[in-house]
Amino acid sequence: MGGAPEVKIRGMSAADIDFASGLVHAAGWASESMDSFSAFLAHDPGGCFIAEVGGERGGVCIATKYERHGFIGELVVSKHLRLLGLGQLLFQRALDYLLAAGLESIGLDGDLNAVSFYEKMGFRKVCRSLRFRGKFRGKKHAHVRPLRPEELDRLCGLDRDFFGDDRSFFLRRRLESFPRNCLVAERDGEMRGWIMARPGDNLLAVGPWAAIVPEEAAPLLEHLASEHGSETLRLGVLDRNAGAVRLLRSWPGFQEGIHSWRMVRGPSERLGDHPALYAIGSGAKG
Ligand SMILES: CC(C)(COP(=O)(O)OP(=O)(O)OC[C@H]1O[C@@H](n2cnc3c(N)ncnc32)[C@H](O)[C@@H]1OP(=O)(O)O)[C@@H](O)C(=O)NCCC(=O)NCCS
Repeated sequence: MGGAPEVKIRGMSAADIDFASGLVHAAGWASESMDSFSAFLAHDPGGCFIAEVGGERGGVCIATKYERHGFIGELVVSKHLRLLGLGQLLFQRALDYLLAAGLESIGLDGDLNAVSFYEKMGFRKVCRSLRFRGKFRGKKHAHVRPLRPEELDRLCGLDRDFFGDDRSFFLRRRLESFPRNCLVAERDGEMRGWIMARPGDNLLAVGPWAAIVPEEAAPLLEHLASEHGSETLRLGVLDRNAGAVRLLRSWPGFQEGIHSWRMVRGPSERLGDHPALYAIGSGAKG
């Protein structure tokens, strides 16, 4: 008696990090790394899910719980195990986890081919989530310098106002893990913006990137690029931020890729939607 192999959704552990990271790279998502999944696990292991079929690992999905909002990402199923229902099961588990927490709204970035699937799950399109990548030499600016650990509390407070929720766990971790990639723009003792980045698969994933004073957006990115001259920069922007979109579309060296859709379930469309926030509004993704 054979029967269908058992399908199971279980919690992720540290031993699954290489599997999860390999799966998202195979799906073409170069911004994620082993460190991204370590961060998700360290933040909230209860929101990290793995699908198994007959004991074989076949998919991953991550639910990130902030204080009032949630975010679902990293939904990928191994190619040879697709259309067996794993994607739906993983997503449902992540959604149930966030719904049980009583969050106000849940967001995601849906690839074009998955939008109708998410619509069936109660999500609606909010705006385009644009992708840019490019390589350029950049330029140093005297008022841009490394972020200091003692400035993190203030930065996290500002970020909370812009992002619309508390993602300080990810910001603190980014400074600890990649101090060289965390910069602030300061004039007359006043923090006017910041930029952070993390290494992905042969690229530098930029974000968060915030400009309290809009004129500081370009110097921050130029300075970051000047310190990573040989690397491709990759970043995402919500098309609600007209200033960020204008800047990147006119920036020599950046190419715009295929966009996805920022989608939301619940009343609030606030997460990450702020004119000072230039790079995409997900804590873990930057
Ligand atoms: C999207 C993905 C996770 C779906 O996983 P899956 O295990 O094949 O999905 P399921 O078998 O549970 O199917 C769920 C639904 O999505 C639909 N679907 C799955 N893959 C699809 C695709 N590539 N295009 C359109 N619809 C698709 C199925 O038909 C099913 O719809 P139904 O309930 O009306 O029958 C998988 O195709 C994948 O890993 N894709 C690459 C990464 C990706 O695009 N992730 C989502 C980005 S936001």
